Parts: sequence; structure tokens; C-alpha cells
Amino acid sequence: MWFLEGKSWVLGTILYVGLLVILMYLCNGSEEMGFNWPSSVTSMYILGDSSVDCGDNTPFYPVLHQNLSLHPCNGSDHTLVPQLLAKKMGLQYVKPFYSQNGSMEDLLNGVNFGAAQATIMYPRSRSYQTLNQQLRQAFETIQLLQLQLGQDTAKSLIESTLFYLSFGKDDLINYLVDDESATSPGYNGLNFTHILVDQMINVIENLYDANVRKIVCMGILPLGCSPSVMSIRYNSTIGDKLGCENDVNLLVLEYNTRLEQRIVDLNLKMRGAQVIFCDTYRAMMEFIFHPQAYGFEDAKNACCGEGEYGGTKGCLSPDMACPRASNHVWWDLYNPTEAVNILLANSAWSGDPLPAICRPITFEALGSAHTN
Ligand SMILES: *[C@@H]1O[C@H](CO)[C@@H](O)[C@H](O)[C@H]1NC(C)=O
Ligand SMILES: *[C@@H]1O[C@H](CO)[C@@H](O)[C@H](O)[C@H]1NC(C)=O
Ligand SMILES: *[C@@H]1O[C@H](CO)[C@@H](O)[C@H](O)[C@H]1NC(C)=O
Ligand SMILES: *[C@@H]1O[C@H](CO)[C@@H](O)[C@H](O)[C@H]1NC(C)=O
Ligand SMILES: *[C@@H]1O[C@H](CO)[C@@H](O)[C@H](O)[C@H]1NC(C)=O
Repeated sequence: MWFLEGKSWVLGTILYVGLLVILMYLCNGSEEMGFNWPSSVTSMYILGDSSVDCGDNTPFYPVLHQNLSLHPCNGSDHTLVPQLLAKKMGLQYVKPFYSQNGSMEDLLNGVNFGAAQATIMYPRSRSYQTLNQQLRQAFETIQLLQLQLGQDTAKSLIESTLFYLSFGKDDLINYLVDDESATSPGYNGLNFTHILVDQMINVIENLYDANVRKIVCMGILPLGCSPSVMSIRYNSTIGDKLGCENDVNLLVLEYNTRLEQRIVDLNLKMRGAQVIFCDTYRAMMEFIFHPQAYGFEDAKNACCGEGEYGGTKGCLSPDMACPRASNHVWWDLYNPTEAVNILLANSAWSGDPLPAICRPITFEALGSAHTN
């Protein structure tokens, strides 16, 4: 008898384990499909270029940038997409790395490592804060958390921290300026964008190895329509003039498309991680080609700048700005206005007004911050 009982116990166990395996499989399956994320974002680490920083984070910015915008984004990070999204997630303003005072409190809310000029690859001058430099600062911060809070607490903090990456624009601008005399920017340019994507993917993988589980990667906006590129190409015979410099936009599209494809693969490979790609290109093109539908009157000229399209020199003082920035798509050389950033952030958050800008899921689905 005891033998039979033993047998049924074994059978029961096999059934039970089998059920567990099926359940685990189902749960993982639904995770991959984007349902029931058991998660919330408690802080945000921002890495990037002028799409995330207005110059606060580069101590020498005013000294080094006499020819560029001294007031990208009109001088306030509050008007930029990551800060608008942080607010929606219930987080405080994410302070620049260089304004940290060393308190834990600051670190727990997040850090903005971004700099108004930042490249994925080679810096063009000392004023650039490259992706690798920013990443090093981020890893140092993670180490600090581990020292102060212990491995386990730090690990769960990092797991609920959103890493926001927004790069690539300055690499392409430098490439275009340096290779202005090159005869065939298209061919070499495509190879260049592939290298940029490889670097971004390396960084995402490094972050994953450091227990980061939530990563957002922003695409490059349509640089070929930006006042800066339109101005650089003003007297040039390169490219066509159908409203935007399409050969430049093709490079941007190559970067964006390839990056998104690689991110789709990473999401399958990196268990438990959520990596999102946000297609700012498509969103901006919608505003540029249907400006009236979104309340814009000027989709070509910078609100603050000098020369052709206001894109030859950047915004050197707020007095230079047009009277109503919200009528413009572009603020300066290649940064959009606050009005555009609000539309981008709203779309990234919930898909309204533009659906599926961030894929595979919206920021809202990525989880709201703990309120307690
Ligand atoms: C600024 O422009 C001047 C001439 O227009 C040039 O000589 C100088 O190198 C530029 N400075 C920077 C930092 O690009
Ligand atoms: C650092 O800043 C936080 C607020 O962000 C503040 O509460 C704290 O007192 C500051 N610490 C020092 C040493 O200034
Ligand atoms: C550059 O791109 C072309 C076409 O996409 C490809 O055939 C070639 O192998 C690439 N070269 C390098 C060095 O990656
Ligand atoms: C284009 O050419 C005109 C006439 O030569 C010149 O005045 C202007 O500065 C040039 N614009 C740019 C952006 O190079
Ligand atoms: C730029 O910022 C300044 C200072 O905050 C503000 O007074 C001005 O109205 C802003 N200009 C535009 C065009 O948004």
C-alpha cells in the first residue's frame, strides 16, 4: 500500500511540476507580448545630446560654443522630452550630473548625464561628452549605490530605473560637415550608421549585464529637414531640394530602422528586459508635412537663429527668438520647440496624438512610478 501511495505521490509531483512549467511558460509568453508588466519606474537615468540637455551639464559650454546655440531648448531642460516624461511617470525633475551635491536623495530620483553636444563615436572637440564618457559616469553612479545601499538594494533599484538613451544626431552632423566635399556621402554614410547602431547595441547589452532592465532608445529626428542641414546645403549641389535633404534623411532612416530591428532581437534575447525604441523621425515628419493639423505655422525656419532658415548660427541669446516659438516646429539648428516636445512626449506616453511612436509598448505601459 505504502508503495502505491508513493507512486501516486510521484505522479502528483510530476503533474504539479508540469503545471508549473506550463504556467511559467505562459507567464513568460505574455511578458514578451507586452501584458502584465510587474513593474514600475522609480527613477530615470538620462544619457544623450541636446535632445536631453540644454548646456547645463557641460561646464564649459558657454565658453566653447560661441558659434553654436548658447540657448538650445531656450535654456531649460524642463521643456525636453525626457523631463516631460519623467513628470508623467511621477518622478521629480531629473537633475544634471554636474549639479549633484552628493546626496543619496538626488541619486534615487535619477541623474541626467546628457550633454548638449554628445556623440556615439568620436568627439569633434573637447566640448563633446561622448556616449562612453556618459556611460562611465552612469556606472560610477551604480557603484556608488552599491557601496551605499548594499548589492541587493542597489540591484532592485537599478532594475526599476529607466535608462533613456538619445544619441546619433551629432555624429551624423559631424559626418556631413566633415564630408561636405566628399562625392558620395550615401555609400560611406550607410556604413557609418551601421557602426553607430553597433555601438548603441553594445551599450544596451552592457547595461543589461549591469542589471538594467528598462531601456528606452530614441531614434534620430529628420535631420535632413532641420534648419542647420538645410542651411549647410543651401548653396550645395548635393541632395535634392524637395523640402528636405532626402539623402541625409535616408541616413537617419537607416540608423533608426536598423536600431529598431536590433532592439526587437534584443528583447527576445535578454530575458526580463524591456527595451523600447521611439520613432521620433516619423513623428517629426508628421508635424513638418502637416503643420496646421498640430497648430504650427512654420515648419522650416528656426525660431532662434541666424542666416538661411535661421540655421547658420544657433540661438546666441533669447532676444533673438521669434515672438511665438509655439508656431514653429524648430527652435534652433536642429532642436524642436517645446510645443513639438510636448506632442512627442504625449505620443510616447500614451500614443496620443500619434500612436505607436514608441514600440513595442508606450511609456505608460512601461509602468508608473511608485507614489509611496
Ligand atoms: C567659431 O567661428 C570662427 C569663425 O567663424 C572660427 O574661427 C572658430 O574656430 C569657431 N569656433 C568653434 C569653437 O567652432
Ligand atoms: C542636496 O540636495 C538635496 C535636495 O536635492 C537637499 O535635500 C540636501 O540638503 C542637499 N545636501 C547638501 C549637503 O547640500
Ligand atoms: C559598407 O556597406 C556596403 C553596402 O551596405 C557593404 O557591402 C560593405 O561591406 C560595407 N563595408 C564595411 C566596411 O562595412
Ligand atoms: C550662399 O551663397 C551666397 C552668395 O554667395 C552667400 O551670401 C551665402 O552666405 C551662402 N550661404 C551659405 C549658407 O553658405
Ligand atoms: C525663453 O525663455 C525665457 C526665459 O525663461 C522666456 O522669458 C521666453 O519667453 C522664452 N522664449 C520663448 C520663445 O519661448
